[in-house]
Amino acid sequence: MNDTKGDGVPKSAESSTPYGEWALQHGDEISNVLLSWFDRSARNLPWRSVRDPYRVLLSELMLQQTQVSTVIPYYERFLAQWPTLQDLAGADDQAVLKAWEGLGYYSRARHLLAAVRAVVAQHGGEIPASERELLQLKGIGEYTAGAIRSIAFGLPAAAVDGNVVRVFSRLTATSWQPADPAHRRQVRALVEQVIPADRPGDFNEALMDLGATICLPQNPACNGCPVQGICQALVTESVAQFPDKKPSREKPIEQHTCLILTQGGKVHVNRRPEKGLLAGLYEFDWLDDLSASLPDDFLTTLMERQEKLGQKRHVFTHKIWLVDGIRIDFPLSVTATGLDKAGELPGQAANSRWISADELRTLPFPKVLTQWRDDLVVALTQV
Ligand code: ADE
Repeated sequence: MNDTKGDGVPKSAESSTPYGEWALQHGDEISNVLLSWFDRSARNLPWRSVRDPYRVLLSELMLQQTQVSTVIPYYERFLAQWPTLQDLAGADDQAVLKAWEGLGYYSRARHLLAAVRAVVAQHGGEIPASERELLQLKGIGEYTAGAIRSIAFGLPAAAVDGNVVRVFSRLTATSWQPADPAHRRQVRALVEQVIPADRPGDFNEALMDLGATICLPQNPACNGCPVQGICQALVTESVAQFPDKKPSREKPIEQHTCLILTQGGKVHVNRRPEKGLLAGLYEFDWLDDLSASLPDDFLTTLMERQEKLGQKRHVFTHKIWLVDGIRIDFPLSVTATGLDKAGELPGQAANSRWISADELRTLPFPKVLTQWRDDLVVALTQV
């Protein structure tokens, strides 16, 4: 990893750059200071107690774009349900999606399953340690590969995400942008220069902790920072200028109306397609879809019976959903007329059916709908 040009200077050193200079001057110091801070102040997280590659893989996939505090209960439930990689590889897809419910970015759950199954099928059940082989597994990019290699296998691999770019942008006073791939490559080269061979995983986790608890995007706690003495941005009183900020594009807002149709203690649900947003999760009906396929007078009857449930908001990577919830309970007497006309309701299709509260409880739903789903389970159970 730390290839040299033969003169002792790492290939990627670029010592003529300000950050290369900084690395040459402060490389040893940063690892010593950060590691002793980590020994004193590391966050006590469940995946840190046992360095088993399966646990590292599981935690790192869950931690992608998700806060530590959100991940902890999911991680613990997954490990209790599937204690080994082999257990998870043999799990039922829907049970895994259900256990992932509420954690978001559901493609990660599918990728996790594909990855552990590939490890069983192609690597004899042992997670590989090489970057090339790790990158071939679903859901594993450069960051996660670096985290697994350093934490699980003790290899001197960098794990650079936006937080680590922010930390080094300030330490070296370099105008890097956290999401820019070229800037991430430069930070990766820099980390590879300074990462200590004896504790690479701890070093990466120390950087993660520093980024999450001290070197925050807004209002960083520089007074408590273990590396304040070598932070070029702090020394030059320019912390607020780093990292470089990309003009943020506003996310488009979509408004949807979710119809929760119930009758005789059952509720109508649909399974989303295998590909695309929230793939494979269950949901209720959407007014837009129904108004395209149902006669107007039937819709009018529906809307007359509505109970408003309020509005939920969900932020995706590229858009925001505002969802108004409406529950419509048909008395059995309405069935003959209403549901006859609703022959178009996709009630018979495999992905669309009327189910009981007991089944509703077992199906994976997107987070934006789970509160209404939970309330409905209670309401239907009390009937
Ligand atoms: N974020 C990503 N990986 C992490 C880890 N191992 N510890 C804490 N936060 C993380």
